[in-house]
Amino acid sequence: MTTPLIDPYQRSISYLRVSVTDRCDFRCVYCMSENMQFLPKRDLLTLEELDRLCSAFVGLGVRKLRVTGGEPLVRRDIMTFFRAMSRHLEAGRLDELTLTTNGSQLARFAQDLAEAGVRRVNVSLDTLDEEKFARVTRWGRLPQVLKGIDAAQAAGLRVKINAVALQGFNEDELFRLVEWCAGRDMDLTFIEVMPMGDFDGEQRIGQYWPLSDLRDQLAERYTLTPLSRRTGGPARYMRLEESGQDVGFITPLTHNFCESCNRVRLTCTGELYPCLGQEGMSDLRAPLRASADDAVLEQAIREAISRKPRGHDFDYSRQEVSGQMSRHMSHTGG
Ligand code: GTP
Ligand code: 5AD
Ligand code: SF4
Repeated sequence: MTTPLIDPYQRSISYLRVSVTDRCDFRCVYCMSENMQFLPKRDLLTLEELDRLCSAFVGLGVRKLRVTGGEPLVRRDIMTFFRAMSRHLEAGRLDELTLTTNGSQLARFAQDLAEAGVRRVNVSLDTLDEEKFARVTRWGRLPQVLKGIDAAQAAGLRVKINAVALQGFNEDELFRLVEWCAGRDMDLTFIEVMPMGDFDGEQRIGQYWPLSDLRDQLAERYTLTPLSRRTGGPARYMRLEESGQDVGFITPLTHNFCESCNRVRLTCTGELYPCLGQEGMSDLRAPLRASADDAVLEQAIREAISRKPRGHDFDYSRQEVSGQMSRHMSHTGG
């Protein structure tokens, strides 16, 4: 039997996030600059190479695979990759195959995703106001995303909404989002904006809104019961007793969750980032291309995991950003 992937802090790595493209059809203001330069397509791993790499991780004990981007559904022929990964679900080697999407292409792909064994999708949605939605995504159309969400639910997919909490933008919409999700039987996670991406000197601190404030506001209206870990992801969930709904909080700034980290990130060029909030990475493309022998690749993966740091350095506590990173979230898939 192969030894599982254990990092230097005795954390077991069972969750792989794979960014299949750095491209996106939106340019969310906290994620990308308007004139974002994307990688030339020739730099991307082929879908066959992504399959071989992800399969190697599955062979080493990864049980959850999340496909991200950029926007994963804009990668050409992406369903071929989902269908290829579904063989690991069928063989019981993988517990979950899932994706995080902006929802713009979901209406087209929802049924195919369900048929490939996807059971859950996370959809990014920060506002229910059409004009604000166009502003935060720079040109996205809300009705298109809502149609995608409807299609996902109609295909039997469980939907979780991700809303990034943004100072001066959506704090007044909190209850609307909570109630809207409850009415549609969808989970909801709020996320603190992280200091990532080089924004021509603009800093994320102006957008930062601590989720502890949000929780206090919710507690005034609902009885909140903390839940134990639910999805193997970073969110801490609260049950709102009056509505029976679960709301998640991803709080890298106010409540660091690195000690229970179980995940690593693979980029579309084959770099492995063992931590979202650190620049360190290992190139897996070279060993992937150098040899058809999977043992070589597995050794490279183990070495990369042996360099996983203890945690990130994001910090806004001194009213200035520390841990600011030039790397964009879309490069590593969040
Ligand atoms: P579930 O399976 O539904 O729990 O998904 P998830 O929360 O793991 O994934 P999702 O793609 O919905 O991620 C939501 C947010 O969590 C994104 O903004 C990610 O950047 C952030 N996130 C995920 N993992 C980490 C992490 O290890 N560190 C930090 N700081 N943020 C993370
Ligand atoms: N801080 C927090 N979340 C972010 N996302 C993108 N950029 C940031 C950021 N700077 C979120 C998206 C999506 C998820 C993958 O990451 O909204 O839900
Ligand atoms: Fe883990 Fe790094 Fe995320 Fe912290 S920031 S939870 S160490 S991947």
